[in-house]
Amino acid sequence: MQNKTPVGILGATGIVGQRFVQMLEHHPWFEVAWLAASDRSEGRPYGEAARWRMKTALPSRVAEMRVSPAQPQGAPRVIFAALDAAIAAELEPRFAEAGCAVVSNSSALRMQSDVPLVVPEVNADHVKLLECQSWRRKSHGFVVTNPNCSAIGLVMALAPLQQLFGIETVMAVTMQAVSGAGYPGVASLDILGNVIPYIAKEEEKMEEETLKLLGQLNGSKVVPAAFGMSAHCNRVAVEDGHTESVSVRLKKKPQSDEIIRAWNEFRSVPQELKLPSAPPQPVRYLPTADRPQPRFDVDAGDGMTATVGRLRPCSVLDWKFTVLSHNTIRGAAGAALLNAELLKVQGYLE
Ligand SMILES: NC(=O)c1ccc[n+]([C@@H]2O[C@H](COP(=O)([O-])OP(=O)(O)OC[C@H]3O[C@@H](n4cnc5c(N)ncnc54)[C@H](OP(=O)(O)O)[C@@H]3O)[C@@H](O)[C@H]2O)c1
Repeated sequence: MQNKTPVGILGATGIVGQRFVQMLEHHPWFEVAWLAASDRSEGRPYGEAARWRMKTALPSRVAEMRVSPAQPQGAPRVIFAALDAAIAAELEPRFAEAGCAVVSNSSALRMQSDVPLVVPEVNADHVKLLECQSWRRKSHGFVVTNPNCSAIGLVMALAPLQQLFGIETVMAVTMQAVSGAGYPGVASLDILGNVIPYIAKEEEKMEEETLKLLGQLNGSKVVPAAFGMSAHCNRVAVEDGHTESVSVRLKKKPQSDEIIRAWNEFRSVPQELKLPSAPPQPVRYLPTADRPQPRFDVDAGDGMTATVGRLRPCSVLDWKFTVLSHNTIRGAAGAALLNAELLKVQGYLE
């Protein structure tokens, strides 16, 4: 453990919790020191409690660790949280109150006005909202969140366009992977050979989170971006990777090569700071007519790069395109890791 920051995972046995275990195995700054889940798992060796669904082997050191009760007593200061929203709403404040730095995946606190909702490439400055959190003033603890797994791919594609051209209107239709529903998730009889045109609360999350992420920090609050935004969310029979068909109207009227350049040349704080989980190229454009596809493109940049393709004129708005991002890496565990790396560089994890 020398020199590495010990971290805990709350909800460690779920799909996102497992992704944390996998991504932390060789992390240069953080090391798993504590795992917690529900009463069902408490006290059992992690290797027994978790039904391991990752494609790499479960690290033997972690497999032997006992799952702790989901309480702050005995937990390390830095906690990656991967709990269902209802449980997170109760537990995350309790950990923050006890002085923990909670880096959360859940929607429970994302829209709370003093809780930063952060994608480091898009709005790293929003971390300053932490100074307004009462937990931080009282116990030094805090909560930082990353967005919903479908909002993040969209926002990564929109951020370079917002910066250079300004956005007026966005329409997005998602095709979301089954792993987005956790484990065991959607029953196979419901999803095989089928499309489910409803994911509870997903459209609302995409719309409000996108506007918060692309909004401006103004003192102690975020003023949401002012453009019109509409999302349709669908579950499809794909294992990993959320694909989105997007139409945009922009304030300036760029040519297609200017838009493609905006995506390919987009670099931001994580790349400048060389954060360990930062992809060298956060957004890439593929010119091939039938890409991106989850099967071939979901792992771009070790799952941290959003892949865009099919840019073409839209006869209703200005332009339309397809974006793909990895829902449990860029949309969950990888997003939280990148947030924690940013917080560490800024001294918030001391
Ligand atoms: N999957 C994705 O692509 C994705 C992407 C972005 C965000 N998220 C969000 O991340 C969170 C976790 O999602 P997931 O897909 O990993 O869900 P999941 O597979 O259902 O895992 C849920 C985890 O929470 C634990 N848990 C349940 N009840 C608990 C309790 N009362 N106290 C403590 N722990 C409890 C479970 O432990 P047991 O195994 O012991 O029951 C398990 O570890 C959710 O808020 C989800 O919306 C998911």
